[in-house]
Amino acid sequence: MRLNPVLEGLGAYPFVRLNEAKRAAAADGVDVIDLGVGEPREQTPAFIREALRGAVDPLSTYPLAEGLPELRGAISAWVATRFGAQLDPATEVLPTLGSKEAVFHLAQVLGGERVVVTAPGYPVPERGARFAGKEVVRLPLLAERGFLPDLDAIDWPGTAIVWLNFPNNPTGATAPLELYERAAALAREHDVVLASDEAYSELWFGEQPRGALELTDRRNVVVFNTLSKRSSMPGYRSGFVAGDPQVIAALKRYRPNVGVAPQEFVQRAAVAAWSDEQHVDDVRDVYRAKRDVLLGAFEAAGFTLAGGDATFFLWLRTPDGADDERIAMALLRETGIAVAPGSFFGPEGAGHVRAALVPTRERCAEAAARLRGR
Ligand SMILES: Cc1ncc(COP(=O)(O)O)c(C=O)c1O
Repeated sequence: MRLNPVLEGLGAYPFVRLNEAKRAAAADGVDVIDLGVGEPREQTPAFIREALRGAVDPLSTYPLAEGLPELRGAISAWVATRFGAQLDPATEVLPTLGSKEAVFHLAQVLGGERVVVTAPGYPVPERGARFAGKEVVRLPLLAERGFLPDLDAIDWPGTAIVWLNFPNNPTGATAPLELYERAAALAREHDVVLASDEAYSELWFGEQPRGALELTDRRNVVVFNTLSKRSSMPGYRSGFVAGDPQVIAALKRYRPNVGVAPQEFVQRAAVAAWSDEQHVDDVRDVYRAKRDVLLGAFEAAGFTLAGGDATFFLWLRTPDGADDERIAMALLRETGIAVAPGSFFGPEGAGHVRAALVPTRERCAEAAARLRGR
């Protein structure tokens, strides 16, 4: 059978190799503590689960692509408090089925031949661009620049999208408002869309991160956010896109073709989640405690913190900059601790590993003890 050449060209996800190694270790009786996969595993707060249960109606009709007005209103209210921006819920906000599908689909609705992504990085912007038939340019995030991209290295004319992702997966770096200001001005000058993936905006341990919705001029700018991390709701699939009304309108035209309108009972639970900050403070405290216990232990084992102080990832330089996949596999064999080799996020990540602070506190403490006893 002939397959889409883009699909064929993607190759196996490198995480498959790590999964095989984890399975082999477990089969040998090793108790694996998985810091490799970045999936949140904290419990969804009870009031959100109750909101979901209470929203299941006897009659289940198709959800509208534009989302419930109540949810658009709750998101606008959250954005106003968090970023000081007054968004029009009718034209500047669109609920999405988690943020991954929206990140993937953006390239489908925009003209222009090229998509710029930062690297190392979350692979979805790149994959979405490839399926949309666009060329991909990787913009390196280097430690010596604080993991911020060099905007002058971008060939702006003819570019469709420039992606930013701060707080950054995998480096944990955050970006100053000036980066967004300059990137947005360049995007407007060259008719490019600046897309800011802010999935980790609420997971921070130093200063509260800035965001592109703080820009006074949001033309050509769209921001993606999600409840998966801040509200521990990855299974609900609930996020949003907000920003330039022209892009939002294009997405509203495109999305009914795909079938990605979020379920209304999930949208009602999302209203509850965006309307409360206490649970976000609480989950931040949990991640902070795990970060404190594991960072010191990784340092004792010879790793150094290379990345920033946000997200639930530690971006660690391997001892003496040694080969990251070899180090990760050795760590798994010797201690049962799985981390993601940095080169899995692209060649720019070589010499680093990413540790996700997602197991329970007890399991993180156990991992720390094993690292110290190594
Ligand atoms: C950088 C980044 N953006 C977006 C997402 C998508 O999250 P979700 O689809 O759960 O909203 C993730 C999830 O891992 C991510 O790491």
